[in-house]
Amino acid sequence: MNHAHQLCEEGTAICLNGVTVTYQDVLALWQVNLDVSLGQYVGIAGPNGSGKTTLLKTILGLIKPQEGQVSIYGLPIDHDNKEILKKIAYVPQAHQIDPFFPATVEDVVLMGRQGLKRLGQRIDKKDMELVEKELKTIGLWKERNRPIGHLSGGQQQKTLIARALVREPEILLLDEPTSNLDFKITKEIMDIINYLHETRELTILAVHHNLKLMRADVERMIILDKAIVYDGSPNNPEVDEIIQKTFFS
Ligand SMILES: Nc1ncnc2c1ncn2[C@@H]1O[C@H](COP(=O)(O)OP(=O)(O)O)[C@@H](O)[C@H]1O
Ligand SMILES: [Mg+2]
Repeated sequence: MNHAHQLCEEGTAICLNGVTVTYQDVLALWQVNLDVSLGQYVGIAGPNGSGKTTLLKTILGLIKPQEGQVSIYGLPIDHDNKEILKKIAYVPQAHQIDPFFPATVEDVVLMGRQGLKRLGQRIDKKDMELVEKELKTIGLWKERNRPIGHLSGGQQQKTLIARALVREPEILLLDEPTSNLDFKITKEIMDIINYLHETRELTILAVHHNLKLMRADVERMIILDKAIVYDGSPNNPEVDEIIQKTFFS
């Protein structure tokens, strides 16, 4: 059987089958096969431009692969399939938030709920309860009325995680949630993700910048260099050599 047609096992949360993505003539992903099982915490590493963000966007159905298929719980992903998309939350790669952006921390987190509403459906008590719960989870309840732009980079990043959590996702995708943050806050955010994985039955696929911290936390590590060059335990002795080859040569 051609590996491009390999099928994922039953009960798989995320399945990519021979996925190739190009932007015009730039190759971003090459023949990616991936099966993430329910409740798994998978870390993704790779140098700049290795296709990490493209991989997450393809799983979300934001990018259509030139070749191959993506499915969630065995159903083909389709950006118009709202029911599947409701089960997934995405924390996009950090960007600087305008200090004058006219929204409070609470407003930003509430946006996660608004994305689930049908037209004309109002924000209700359950929405506000979830916002409170997740602001407390990430430790920003006291900051809820401050403008988002006035917060530190780490607090802004935590706010975006809370915005994802209020969707009550089953699958959480994170794109470099700690890039540009110092070690202390990086460790805090890594610990929050770990806590979420351990206490909720979340399936997590996260691109991480700090390889050392990532390898201490994840149960499975993927190294991407347009193709998958490693997929396995983060503690395997060959990982160091593959990192060396992929990142530094
Ligand atoms: N919208 C786009 N148009 C053209 N090329 C893109 C676009 N997005 C990404 N690329 C290219 O695709 C490759 C993979 O990018 P990306 O997925 O962002 O990698 P990473 O997240 O690992 O840095 C890079 O060569 C990048 O320049
Ligand atoms: Mg990226």
